[in-house]
Order: sequence, then structure tokens, then C-alpha cells
Amino acid sequence: MKKVYVTRDVLPDGISLLKDKGFEVEVWAKDRPMTAIELHEAAQKVDALWCTMADAINKNFLMSNSHLKIITNYAVGTNNIDKEAAAELGIIIGNTPDVLTEATAETAFGLMICASRNFKAAMKNAENGEWTHFQPKGFLGPQLKGRTLGIIGMGRIGGRLGEMAQGAFGMKIKGYKRGDNLIEFLSDLDVLSLHIPLTPETKHFIGRKEIAAMKSSAIIVNTARGDVIDQEALYEALRDKKIFSAGLDVTTPEPLPPSNPLFSLPNVMILPHIGSATFEARTEMSVMCANNIIAAFP
Ligand code: DGY
Repeated sequence: MKKVYVTRDVLPDGISLLKDKGFEVEVWAKDRPMTAIELHEAAQKVDALWCTMADAINKNFLMSNSHLKIITNYAVGTNNIDKEAAAELGIIIGNTPDVLTEATAETAFGLMICASRNFKAAMKNAENGEWTHFQPKGFLGPQLKGRTLGIIGMGRIGGRLGEMAQGAFGMKIKGYKRGDNLIEFLSDLDVLSLHIPLTPETKHFIGRKEIAAMKSSAIIVNTARGDVIDQEALYEALRDKKIFSAGLDVTTPEPLPPSNPLFSLPNVMILPHIGSATFEARTEMSVMCANNIIAAFP
């Protein structure tokens, strides 16, 4: 009987599927990610690991767990895994593409609306009892209709966001292509949404120089990975009103400590990495992880 360890208590559909197929499955029951030692000890006992993006699957871990046949990530992004080392050791890496496209594009779409219309400041105002009268000049933001949305990473999620924004608001969509002049591309945008994987090449893809090229009315949305933006440069630009606002589902680090200065700004909406958090996506991700494991043991 092949053994599987699941590093977080995920939606049950995939677990049931594995059990139906005769796998022995153990699930980490605590409501926190495993420490590196706990992860290593769990992996030692099994043939397959089902992990999340919070688990650091680095070279050391892989070398000391080279008996694993497959590691499947409960995410589409795999930047937490040293894929080169896994390939050298012959460990299969699985992930969950396609099934979270809609959910993540919807998250980016939601952040775009929240960030353009000052939802954070407006909600705080209402909650804090400051909603004492109608404010003719309060919480103003740019209407999205007809504006230009630039998408870096026109893959599944970026492409779907483009369709949504064009269909719903008649936004003009500009997809960044490798080789385009990035500064020129950025200078023309009303909204920028990032959908590139995090790799050594894309770390701080949007840095100080790139942010400086954007309009002061521009909005930045990030549902990819925190490190594709230079967060310090982003903070300074938001603080100094060099750009209008930002909507972030991803940050550096994650979780972002409440003391982080980004939280003190009224013009940045921060979500705790909930891009794929729909019932549908998380269920399908569970089934896909199970199927990745099943396929590795024909
Ligand atoms: C993923 O699965 O990589 C995404 O970050 C989901 O939000």
C-alpha cells in the first residue's frame, strides 16, 4: 500500500479519491504549516507528498527525501519547490493548473474594483462610525470603463482577467510580450495586473524605475507572487501618491506582519493570498492533486 502525507487539512474530495484507490493517507491536522523538521519527519515515512506553497521544498529537503516518487503542490505556482533539484533526483512535481484560473482572475478583478474605488478607506469609514453624512467629494476614484488594463503574463489567469475586464467594463487590454519595452508599456496604463510566475528572472520585475514610469493615477494589482514587485518601492510610491492605489493578494513575506507599513496606507488593499479560495477551485485542486499522485503510481 502506497503512503501519502498531506501537509494541510485540504478539502476532502481528493483525500477520499486516494483512499478509494487504495492509498494510505495521513493529513497534518494542526491549523498551521509544518516546520521544516516536522515536514522532513513526515516525508520520511511516505511515498508521496501533497504540500502547499507554504512548504519550502528546497534542495536539502529533496536530497534527504529522494525516496519520494512525487510531490504535488496544492497550487498552480511552484516557486516553493526547487524543480531543478527534483528533476535531478527523479522526483515528479505536480501542481494544479487550469482549475483555479477563474477564481484567481475573479480575485484580480475584485482587487481592481476595490483599489480603484477606495473600498478600504470607505469600509473603514462606515465601520468606525465616521459615516455621519453624505460626502460629495469623498472616496473618489477612477471609473474603469474604457481604461487601459495592462497584463503582464497573458497565460490562463491573465487572459481570463482580460476577457472579464473587456466584457464587463469595455477596458482596453494590453498584453506585455517578452521583448516589448517595459517602460513604454507601463507608462500607458491605467491598471497593471501581474500574472507571471516567480523565478530568478522575474524577481522585482516591477521595480522602482518601472513604478516611476507609471501614471500617478495608475493602479497596480498583484495576484501572482509578492516578489515580482519590489515591495519597498511600491510602498514608497503609494505613500507619496506617485500611483493611485494597489490591490495585493500576495506579499513579501507571507503572512505579512500587521506591523508592515503597507497596512497603514489607505490606498492599498491586502488580502491573505486567497486567489484560489472558491469552493469550486479548492475542490478541483484537491481532486487534481490526488490524480497527480494516482498517475505517478501506475
Ligand atoms: C497558486 O495556486 O499558485 C495561486 O497563488 C493561488 O492563489
